[in-house]
Amino acid sequence: MKTELLGSTPEQIEKAAQILKDGGLVGIPTETVYGLAANALDGAAVAKIFEAKGRPMDNPLIVHVADFNDIESFELVSEIPGSARLLAKRFWPGPLTMIMKKGKAVPDEVSAGLDTVAIRFPSHPVAQAIIRAAQLPLAAPSANLSGSPSPTTARHVMNDLDGKIEAVLDGGECEVGLESTVITLADGVPRVLRPGGVTVEQLRETLGEVEVDDAVLNQLEEGKKAASPGMKYKHYAPKANVVLLKCSDDEYIDYVNDHGGRGVAALCCDEDLSRLKNVKVISLGKRGDYSQQAHRLFDSLRRIDGYGDVITVYSRLPHTDGVGMAVYNRLIRAAGFEVIDLE
Ligand code: TXA
Ligand code: MG
Repeated sequence: MKTELLGSTPEQIEKAAQILKDGGLVGIPTETVYGLAANALDGAAVAKIFEAKGRPMDNPLIVHVADFNDIESFELVSEIPGSARLLAKRFWPGPLTMIMKKGKAVPDEVSAGLDTVAIRFPSHPVAQAIIRAAQLPLAAPSANLSGSPSPTTARHVMNDLDGKIEAVLDGGECEVGLESTVITLADGVPRVLRPGGVTVEQLRETLGEVEVDDAVLNQLEEGKKAASPGMKYKHYAPKANVVLLKCSDDEYIDYVNDHGGRGVAALCCDEDLSRLKNVKVISLGKRGDYSQQAHRLFDSLRRIDGYGDVITVYSRLPHTDGVGMAVYNRLIRAAGFEVIDLE
């Protein structure tokens, strides 16, 4: 199949909308990462997403809408909890996904057989335009091959999925750079299953009590069922081996300089660029600027693979406050939970 790289003029959006109505797949920009979209109401179309990505069939998808009322009118959920209305008022459109009890219009392919469904209203104008043009809710996981870093540009999507999908809409670089925060409202105390651009602190300001699932920061125990199936897979990993160091900034510099050489790369902050010798360095941004670190993380991991000869990439273990929790969550998965503790 030839994959068409489209811009985001009204005509090109119309063309992409027709592909979706006909049951095809389109890569679409959102403010978090690029998504691989299909008609969420059409199980056969949704099944093609799993095939194109090589995604395990037991990992459910997020359904994207462009109007809060779409949730009811398309019968996506069986009941909208009050907490969902509060969160939508403050954070939608934006990088927050809410899990609710699923409605009768959602095919099993979307929910992977669970009795819940994940819903998000993205803020990216092109994402909204394509949902409106298709007049459909769109199921969309991140538009990468399963296991590799999520795509934050149309080029990344083409690198992974060229020849496997009908089209990609180019809407520029994604602003947030990491996937949305996922919170379940389906039972008991609201619980964050995946941290993202909307922070746990912000969610608590709106809802009061909010839990953070164990699997966000820790490796799932053997045999334990994942609340969010996506969290049980090694994820977001470049081909190079990611090694995380738990240590101070100075210890990090010393360790990497001691272990440098060909085939070694290091992630760092702007302030450290000139202090790291004899390794390939990529800065994620200013120290403590977690939003910038989030914005650059996946692109940096892909660039490291682009060098072609990197075997090991070092990074400091990030702090877990604010958006830092999301950066921590992605990096520790990229590293397969291996951390060298120098403290
Ligand atoms: O920012 C995002 O969320 C991007 C853009 C495209 O919207 N999408 C995205 O989708 O990251 P994906 O499929 O890569 O990640 C969805 C996560 C997975 O970890 C999945 O297991 C979880 O959400 N999830 C989806 N539906 C669920 C459900 N009903 N219950 C529990 N977890 C669910
Ligand atoms: Mg993904």
